[in-house]
Amino acid sequence: MNKFTRNLIEQRIQEVKEKGSKPERKDILQTFIDSIDEKTGSKMNIKEIVSENMALIFAGTDTASNTMSWTLFLLMVYPEVYKKVVQEIRSTFPDQGQSIKYNEARTKLSYLEAVIYESMRYIPAVPSGLGRKVPKGNGIGLQGYKIPSGADVYIFIHGIHRNPKYWDKPDKFIPERFMGEGAADRKRNVFTFSTGYRICPGRNLAWAEIFLTLSNLLRDYDFELPEESQFGPNVIDPETGDPQIMPGFLGLTLGPKYIKRDGWAIVKPADLSSYSTTNNGSVSNAVEKASSRADKV
Ligand code: HEM
Repeated sequence: MNKFTRNLIEQRIQEVKEKGSKPERKDILQTFIDSIDEKTGSKMNIKEIVSENMALIFAGTDTASNTMSWTLFLLMVYPEVYKKVVQEIRSTFPDQGQSIKYNEARTKLSYLEAVIYESMRYIPAVPSGLGRKVPKGNGIGLQGYKIPSGADVYIFIHGIHRNPKYWDKPDKFIPERFMGEGAADRKRNVFTFSTGYRICPGRNLAWAEIFLTLSNLLRDYDFELPEESQFGPNVIDPETGDPQIMPGFLGLTLGPKYIKRDGWAIVKPADLSSYSTTNNGSVSNAVEKASSRADKV
């Protein structure tokens, strides 16, 4: 990976040198190559550019893709939410000939936004943030506790998101909490991207990716868990009384633990004819089927 990234960067530097001009559309790589430290006036060396690029690739792929996978999973086990979000998307953007654009989606699909917020709260992709090391010396004092030098300190993002002091019914998946009165405050209490100086710099890009991908996917395709899946709207966790959530595996990000066993969905092209002709909010077969599975609970 290191070598591959380094080769790409060297190739770009060489191309620009030979052509004598930079690419028409300035991309992130060219921005790194051209950037100048305001204080020292120096440019990044190749090792630094490689390292920044790798950080972007690692930080920006699994995080966003896991967030989307968990969201789709949650929709498949909460069919009422699925039905509502699909209705919103398909009745707002019934023309499948036009892909849904981010700005339009973000302003018009308020329920989808609420679903994404709730999914990020319920199952944050980086549940314990990135660690910090207490520097050499005497350690630090934090809220009356002494933390020794060398210790790794993490923010427990998942725990913040399930704290009953700040969340009503924290263990329930309820996208509606991010709509209406008080929603703006609750959105500020979602720490999926961490907070402070080192807050995720890719958060706006992540929102754009997730919004664009989910809005278009959910409009154009129907999703359903296979019959043989160990999960579903009617597979209830006896401890919570809610649909069981597939087990996760925490590397740097949290993804499904048994991807080969649990990572399946039946995906079919959606039939939107009823939407574009009647636009009366009727739903497609797969969504109805998922709801009826839930009704049997
Ligand atoms: C849903 C998707 C994402 C989530 C949940 C997420 C979450 C996070 C979190 C929790 C951190 C740690 C912040 C801290 O140290 O306090 C972080 C850092 C970072 N993220 Fe994201 N991220 C996402 C998407 C992205 C994307 C799309 C990019 C860029 C392509 C990106 C680039 C980075 C980088 C470079 C850092 C390290 C920043 C630093 O060390 O100062 N992330 N992210």
